[in-house]
Parts: sequence; C-alpha cells; structure tokens
Amino acid sequence: MLVFKTKSELKEHLQPAISKKNIGFVPTMGALHQGHISLVKKAKQENEIVVVSIFVNPTQFNNASDLTNYPKTIDADLKMLEEANCDVVFIPSVEEIYDENVNSENFEFDGLEKEMEGKFRPGHFDGVGTVVKKLFEIVRPTNAYFGEKDFQQLQIIKKMVVKNNLPVNVIGCSIFRESDGLAMSSRNMRLTQEQREASPFIHKVLLEAKSLFINEKGNGICKWVTEQFENQPELELEYFIIADEENLKEMKTINENVKYRAFIAVFAGEIRLIDNISLT
Ligand code: PAF
Repeated sequence: MLVFKTKSELKEHLQPAISKKNIGFVPTMGALHQGHISLVKKAKQENEIVVVSIFVNPTQFNNASDLTNYPKTIDADLKMLEEANCDVVFIPSVEEIYDENVNSENFEFDGLEKEMEGKFRPGHFDGVGTVVKKLFEIVRPTNAYFGEKDFQQLQIIKKMVVKNNLPVNVIGCSIFRESDGLAMSSRNMRLTQEQREASPFIHKVLLEAKSLFINEKGNGICKWVTEQFENQPELELEYFIIADEENLKEMKTINENVKYRAFIAVFAGEIRLIDNISLT
C-alpha cells in the first residue's frame, strides 16, 4: 500500500492507469470503521486500483468545536486499510487541497441542499461539494463509493457529477450497522458509555416507523416519533422527516409511485447522529 501526501506524487503514480484501468475511490475523513472498510472492499471487487483519501475537510464543518474534536486515528486507519488490501492512500494537508483559499464554491443542487441537513447545517453541502470535486479532479476515479448513512450527501454528489459533467460513477452503499443497530459513524467513538447504550434506540424507532408507514400509510408517524424521544434523557431529537428519495422533499400526501425514506437527526449530548431507512 502506497501513501501519498501531495497531489503531484499521487497524480504521477495514477497517470499511467487513467483510462486503462478502473480506479475506485473512497473519500473519507479518517477515523475509519467497518462501514468505510465495506466501501473499500466493494471498490476492490469492482476496480483494479483502489484509492482512499483521508482528509478532514474544514469547509464542511459549520461548528468549530466539531472540527477541532473530529477524531483522528491515522495509525489505526492505515492498519485497517492495509488489511483491506487498499492500494493507495492519499493524506493531503489543508494547504495541499485549498492552497491559501480555504473557502467553498457556491453550488446549486436543484434545492437538494435546502432540505433536512441543509436547514440545520448551513454551508455544509457547499463544503462537501467543493472538496469532493477537488478530490475527483486529482484522483480521476472511474467509480466513487459513498455510504447511504449520509443519503442526502450521496444524492447531492450524484447531482454535482451530472451538473458538472464529471466522468465518474457515483455508487451508493448500504448503511453498515453495529450489532445493536446503531449506524456506524466516526462520531460514535466520542459517545459516553451512557450515550452509546442509548443510541441504538434511533434505529429501533426507524424500524418501528417503517412498519407504521407500511400499515398506516404515514398518518401521525412524525408525532409518534417525537413522543418516543420525550422519554429518552440521553437523546434529543432534532428532526424526523419522511421524504421523497429523489428530490428529498418532505412527504405531504402519499404518492404510490414515489420511493420514500425516513430521515432522522438526534443529539446525544454534543454529538450529532444521523440515520435513515427506506420505507418502500
Ligand atoms: O462523508 C464524508 O466522510 C465526507 O463528507 C466526505 C465525502 C469524505 C467529504 O469530506
């Protein structure tokens, strides 16, 4: 496994492979867990070369303490990637990616950016779009892999690729869960023991919401979910929304031809956890 810190070294290494071999790319912010490794394994099956980037992107954080406290476990990350037979790791500095200009591009994602996370994390998706576009330009992957835990991010990246005509296939991968149902996330390692024990409740509520949706066609589910969190001292519900998977607009009345998904964001202390489930 080769590790590069500069764009020039990485590009020089990948240059001979471009348009001859499939390059699979898994962008990450490090603090890797088995969810990331499942993306690497899928990329390994579908490509001749797999590149993983580890870069904590400052422009996508709208909360300074979240950025400062984002877990950094580089030695463990490299060990996991080596074991997963990753070929190339790219670990750039902030200057390497942004030069002097640590700012986001302003994107238009046809309104996808205004829903859910967009309402609570202003500017977040401009930051994600900026860094992913820069990384795609450096790595020039054939296929890029993203987890469905960040479903809105996945849809936004697909939109950015179409709008900017970027030659990459964006592949969404199922959410990887702990055995108790908690969606894997780098932020989970910051939970206290009490918060960690309380957090599987999020997935439990999503599963129950799904069966309510199937049996009762959406009526009263949002109110029911809000009530469930009233008795959870460790968890504070930020939002629960049922939305159209494609345009992410909140469901008003049910349309049989639309695929719906339930989305949730919950605070465990200062740690913000998100999750989602397909309802169809
Ligand atoms: O999902 C993430 O880890 C990040 O948002 C990404 C896609 C690596 C961009 O910084």
